[in-house]
Amino acid sequence: MYRTNTCGELRLCNAGQQVTLSGWVQKARKMGGMTFIDLRDRYGITQLVVDGGASSELVELASSVGREWVLQVVGTVVERQSKNPKMETGEIEISVSEIKVLNKANTPPFTIEDESDGGEELRAKYRYLDLRRNPLQKALKLRHQIAHQVRNFLNDQNFLEIETPYLIKSTPEGARDFVVPSRMNPGQFYALPQSPQTFKQLLMVAGYDRYFQIVRCFRDEDLRADRQPEFTQIDCEMAFVEQEDVLNTFEDLMRTLFKNVLNVDIPASIPRMSWYDAMDYYGSDKPDIRFDMRICEITSLVQGFGFSVFDSVEYVGAINVTGGASYTRKQTDELTEWVKRPQVGAKGLVYIKYNEDGSIKSSIDKFYTPEQLQVVLSKAGAQKGDMLLVLCGAKRKTQNMLGVLRIEMGNRLGLRDPFNFAPLWVVDFPLVEWDDETGRFYAMHHPFTAPKPEHLELFYSDKKEDLERVCANAYDFVLNGTELGGGSIRIHEAEMQQRMFEVLGISKEDAEYKFGFIINAFKFGAPPHGGLAFGFDRICALFGGQETIRDYIAFPKNNQGRDVMIDSPSKIDDTQMEELFLESTFNENQLK
Ligand code: AMO
Repeated sequence: MYRTNTCGELRLCNAGQQVTLSGWVQKARKMGGMTFIDLRDRYGITQLVVDGGASSELVELASSVGREWVLQVVGTVVERQSKNPKMETGEIEISVSEIKVLNKANTPPFTIEDESDGGEELRAKYRYLDLRRNPLQKALKLRHQIAHQVRNFLNDQNFLEIETPYLIKSTPEGARDFVVPSRMNPGQFYALPQSPQTFKQLLMVAGYDRYFQIVRCFRDEDLRADRQPEFTQIDCEMAFVEQEDVLNTFEDLMRTLFKNVLNVDIPASIPRMSWYDAMDYYGSDKPDIRFDMRICEITSLVQGFGFSVFDSVEYVGAINVTGGASYTRKQTDELTEWVKRPQVGAKGLVYIKYNEDGSIKSSIDKFYTPEQLQVVLSKAGAQKGDMLLVLCGAKRKTQNMLGVLRIEMGNRLGLRDPFNFAPLWVVDFPLVEWDDETGRFYAMHHPFTAPKPEHLELFYSDKKEDLERVCANAYDFVLNGTELGGGSIRIHEAEMQQRMFEVLGISKEDAEYKFGFIINAFKFGAPPHGGLAFGFDRICALFGGQETIRDYIAFPKNNQGRDVMIDSPSKIDDTQMEELFLESTFNENQLK
């Protein structure tokens, strides 16, 4: 038997017991004639002591062990002379009678402590060592707990967990596919699923009216803190439901997760906001509603006074920074530089300060009287001591920039406490959006999303303006400025699905080639259905108070999509290439 107890388990009440522990050496130190070793496993750390009275072999062995060696020790639990209240096992230590070295270890390339001295790249290369650290163990434990709660909840609600294939055909989620060549079908490729979207709809046709899957999805897209090329969804679908049924079911799921995992109560009814309001007031389709600072349009209040910058644009908008009147010139200059960064892309920034003494100071004093500026301040709800930050340009683009600035100001003013949770449903998305470059519509969600029943007439109209006004029966679950999940009520009639492809400019032949199987299935009694998918990694990260999902995935990729530990992707050998009828046309110069 390797162990009778774990390294996190023993307490004062165990004093006197003979125990066997196994684990890794966190650190070893000599004090006088005694050797102390901290032995670690995933449950905790226990202090071992070899005192001067032990045999010389044991003393020698104890003083020779190095960091991360794997030991098995036998000893007696004893009360400590100097207790350590910071350690859960801090009242006891093990007086060791036997040590067996199960394995030696090289000196680790970085310290295996809560705050490691290793850089990100180095820790990624030795991920298995990084995973020994407490913060990562906590993160993966949290992930497990959430998955467990999800399964319990959905099982109680009659959902069946059903797996769907990974080697499939392109799915239309809007990113690039990862593809896999088929040896048995030369010249042909599978695509890895961007989501199980089409399969879960086929399961509805098959009569499995409540499906879920905690499932890996693959998308070849640019990576960010909350995006990985392979990530996990809690993917769900339900038959015989309307939007309201889906929202209620998954509000309950989220409420249960918050309560059972974090002991946090979220509102009894989660607020809903239309996509149009989200864009107009928050400059984002995933508003962070932990703080107000809404965007206020002031176009009509500032045009026509001879300030050509404002006169020449479609839209002028402002956010109100509470207490901002005290900003110095240096601070407003720095903010101006900040909005000019390519990530934001503004040409400049106008400020209007409403000083405590009631006077107004702005960067556009030359063009406006205090009375005119007062009207703007009032519209934006500014109080004495506040400051408006103003951007202008094309409407959606400017709202978007104001949204980015709003988040930045929220961060600077400490308004984004990660443990203050403010969930929100964003609803009533446009069904399709026009792309000038390709001169065609794209599905805002995916092509299986149904239009709102009250917009069917517009959906069948041939006019571009009408189609632009069609709202989708779609919804996103947003938490603290992150899109945690999204879904929709689906089209379930072959004829309406054909119309959707037509709106998207996908020819009958192309639709048949890509999605013939699902259009066909709809002809065999498809029930009305809808569903959604949550980003599981994102839920884990936000529950852990982080925005980056990487630490919540055991073996993540870096920003270049590489796994630096196993050094992948990598070349394959010539035989494999030949077997797959592949030829690489790549040469290094193409990257230059
Ligand atoms: P969608 O594309 O919105 O919907 O994805 C659902 C959720 O998955 C998460 N997510 C990601 N997480 C990490 N890395 C990524 N690269 C990544 N991409 C998406 C987000 C997102 O909200 N089939 C539809 C769902 C449906 O209609 O039922 C779908 O996949 O949190």
